[in-house]
Amino acid sequence: MFPNPLTSLLGVDLPVIQAPMAGGPTTPELVAAVSDAGGLGSYAAAMLSPEAMAEGVARVRELTSRPFNVNLFVLETPQPTAVELEQAQARLAPYRAALGQEPTAAAPERFCEDNRAQIEALIALAPPVASFTFGVLDETTVSHFHAAGSVVLGTATTVAEALAWEAAGADAVCMQGAEAGGHRGTFLGDFEQSSIGLMALLPQAAAALRVPVIAAGGIMDGRGIAAALMLGAQAAQLGTAFLCCPEAGIHAGWKTAIRTARDDSTRLTRVFSGRYARGVVNAFMDDLRGSEADIPAYPVQNALTGGIRRAAAAQGRTEFMSLWAGQGASLARELPAGELVGVLEGELRAAMR
Ligand SMILES: Cc1cc2nc3c(=O)[nH]c(=O)nc-3n(C[C@H](O)[C@H](O)[C@H](O)COP(=O)(O)O)c2cc1C
Repeated sequence: MFPNPLTSLLGVDLPVIQAPMAGGPTTPELVAAVSDAGGLGSYAAAMLSPEAMAEGVARVRELTSRPFNVNLFVLETPQPTAVELEQAQARLAPYRAALGQEPTAAAPERFCEDNRAQIEALIALAPPVASFTFGVLDETTVSHFHAAGSVVLGTATTVAEALAWEAAGADAVCMQGAEAGGHRGTFLGDFEQSSIGLMALLPQAAAALRVPVIAAGGIMDGRGIAAALMLGAQAAQLGTAFLCCPEAGIHAGWKTAIRTARDDSTRLTRVFSGRYARGVVNAFMDDLRGSEADIPAYPVQNALTGGIRRAAAAQGRTEFMSLWAGQGASLARELPAGELVGVLEGELRAAMR
């Protein structure tokens, strides 16, 4: 089952992709270590300005000569109403106070980076692989990535989303199961109905698509990668499995939350960012659970809670931090990333035998 058309297209030895994880985890060091070990390292650039993205990509290129992926979101420009903003800020005031901040805060000047500028900058950087989530690119933009020499990967949570990416010209589609840590990539259907378990999702996607399928969500070891290949995927994308690597740029309290997680420790929530994402349940998620439906959409809520999450991290207050993790969190291993890829390869080969 490997090498296969997808590993050949990506130019990698192993059907293993380290997931892009925005907000710091996927340092150039992590990305390069995975790529050097024969997998595909992914650099998350969604939170970065075009300049910062260029610096990060240059650093990855310094560290490895192997193929790597750079990931962006596909976003609409948000237009929250004044009332929506006011209510959202009022909901957050007690948390600011608990962290010793001014309870009232001014709305940020902008809620996210200019998405189109990021996409244009990424085309110019011509990474070996470019991947996207939260939406679908138009055909022309995909063709510009192809002209730059980049392989294009879309993210989908349903077969319909996967077909939209295939129609836009994606070279492969990452199917994100409901088990997955971090944000749901859903962009067409209802979020709940689009939260499909990977075991059900993969064979349906593999049957419907002409392009190769990548499996993501809850895969933590070589057995899981083998299972994904059996169900029709040509590679597995693992996020949470890499979060306890020393190269992963995350807070020690977040690593502890993953290490001590159980199978039922995570839940999907909108309270941190306005878009459903899976993380280890904490007080912030529990407290605001009743307001889930009222919270402004991504990226507005994400920008509004940014100061709270940064202050919480600085003070080691994990009860107010976003502790993104998938349902397999307890199986994460604290190994250097290159070593972890080697262990995954050994387990995968054993499982395939
Ligand atoms: C902390 C974290 C951040 C993430 N950020 C991104 C991102 O920026 N872009 C993206 O395409 N996927 C992102 N994801 C989702 C992953 O691509 C992938 O779907 C997920 O990690 C798979 O589930 P697992 O964590 O159980 O392995 C993120 C996941 C986590 C855990």
